[in-house]
Amino acid sequence: MTNLQDNSTSITPTPVIDLDNAQLSFGEKAKRVDVLKGINLCIDAGETVGVLGASGAGKTSLLMVMAGLENVTGGTIALADYDITNMPEDALAALRRDKVGIVFQAFRLIASMTALQNVSIPLELAGNSDATARASAALESVGLGHRLHHLPDQMSGGEQQRVAIARAIAPNPRILLADEPTGNLDSTTGEKVIKTLFESAANAGAALVLVTHDAGLAARCSRIIQIEDGKLAADSKQKAAG
Ligand SMILES: Nc1ncnc2c1ncn2[C@@H]1O[C@H](COP(=O)(O)OP(=O)(O)O)[C@@H](O)[C@H]1O
Ligand SMILES: [Mg+2]
Repeated sequence: MTNLQDNSTSITPTPVIDLDNAQLSFGEKAKRVDVLKGINLCIDAGETVGVLGASGAGKTSLLMVMAGLENVTGGTIALADYDITNMPEDALAALRRDKVGIVFQAFRLIASMTALQNVSIPLELAGNSDATARASAALESVGLGHRLHHLPDQMSGGEQQRVAIARAIAPNPRILLADEPTGNLDSTTGEKVIKTLFESAANAGAALVLVTHDAGLAARCSRIIQIEDGKLAADSKQKAAG
């Protein structure tokens, strides 16, 4: 594998996501839909990966597999040195909580909880003693310091998106996954959110996997992959523009 890392460091990159012939199918027999058709992909800590592909190509499914939220139906997957291919759900849930931050396409905030609670409760459950302070800091970093006590339905779509991003970055995960995170944002807010995502990933030495329709945004990643009809159609490393 080519190593295009900054030559000021000579640290050997460690893979944090490793898919080997990963497949995902839904349904049985005649109704079977093959969504991921044998993906080979190894992503190192510190990489930023832009994922491009037409609607329905399998980008969200790939992210769900990388998050350990869908089990591969063929091949293997390892996250942060753990083979999760057949991992029991409770172990997988703990791994996910500690290592993976995910920004879903449809935010998935808890409607009865304030912005602050949406971010702090998962931290508390993970045993963080400074959950509230960390959650506030994460919300401030996405420009929501003035919305801590608002409920999701008291916020705009863009603000809800930013709460979802704060929730994902607050635990400093090794793996940060984002599914079209700027889809609902105006360009100024979108730029701010993207900067926050890149900075959080860099600060945590995490891998960032960013699904986007925006080729310009993908071009700012250190690597671009293209998904076509459930397959990896292109994979290129580039000098990151940041
Ligand atoms: N739970 C599911 N059951 C059946 N088909 C699914 C399921 N989830 C996704 N698919 C199908 O998988 C394909 C890829 O979907 P998705 O990963 O959401 O694509 P993308 O994010 O690239 O638009 C689509 O054809 C979609 O209908
Ligand atoms: Mg999608």
